[in-house]
Amino acid sequence: MSPPVPTVRVTAAIPEEGIEVLREAGFRIEMGGVDVEGIDALLCLLTDRIDAPLLERGDRLKVVANMAVGVDNVDLEAAAHLGITVTNTPDVLTDATADLAFALMLAAARRVSWGDRLVRSGGFRGWEPLLGLGFEVTGGTLGIVGAGRIGTAVAERARGFRMDVLLCDLGFGVPLADLLERSDFVSLHCPLTPETRHLIGEEELRRMRTHAVLVNTARGPIVDERTLVRALREGWIGAAGLDVFEEEPRLAPGLVDLPNVVLTPHVGSATFTTRGRMAEIAARNVVAALRGKRVPNAVVQGTRSP
Ligand code: GLV
Repeated sequence: MSPPVPTVRVTAAIPEEGIEVLREAGFRIEMGGVDVEGIDALLCLLTDRIDAPLLERGDRLKVVANMAVGVDNVDLEAAAHLGITVTNTPDVLTDATADLAFALMLAAARRVSWGDRLVRSGGFRGWEPLLGLGFEVTGGTLGIVGAGRIGTAVAERARGFRMDVLLCDLGFGVPLADLLERSDFVSLHCPLTPETRHLIGEEELRRMRTHAVLVNTARGPIVDERTLVRALREGWIGAAGLDVFEEEPRLAPGLVDLPNVVLTPHVGSATFTTRGRMAEIAARNVVAALRGKRVPNAVVQGTRSP
């Protein structure tokens, strides 16, 4: 008798590249929902909450393949305890995310969204010497918090803008307080962990320069968003470029009313190429785990056998 065909649940529509890999592997694919009962593998998104009670229901679950580099939506401890493998999709999204961090930095410093709104609303009456003045990016000091793959890629881009780069990471580089005091731009690239939740709060925002631009393409809860609204409103800092928010898709009260913030809807990795590769890699992680092979991107290496 041939062994039963493993079932993979894909929690939402993903790029075809991922589905293709699962189909070629001959797995049964169930689309939609985060239910894990009777499921061998879950290919999920960063918006899916994969907590202990859910994992405990996965009597046959061998692998949770998150289609993201961040895994803060998965209870890693519970997964490890239950012997379930957890994987992510690093590397492929490094450049796309670093590009967006730079886009937000430039847009916030040079008031791109404000200008766009002015022109669209018919408010542009011609060149004026004092119209739309912003902050100079080239030659400024860029503080990067989190010196991993994406932070390093942002630093590479900064070279082209002749910027001085300060790096701060757990236990090495410039201390955070120094970095905040010396930087014209601060870009966040650390994972969300209990240690980095509200890493940037009132004390840190007050340390920053009054013209400084804060960029967050990492995870919303790294910044105390309500306090950031006050900082932007009261001029503790100059501007912000945000791709992520504390309670997505909700925004802190007052954020959208501020003229000195540029907002994008968590699209750091959202290029056709990158999202296709993320889906493919998540699916390849599923295939490896269900075939008992070495799993390329295991954040937690499980013990349940296929
Ligand atoms: C996106 O935010 C990711 O973690 O991949």
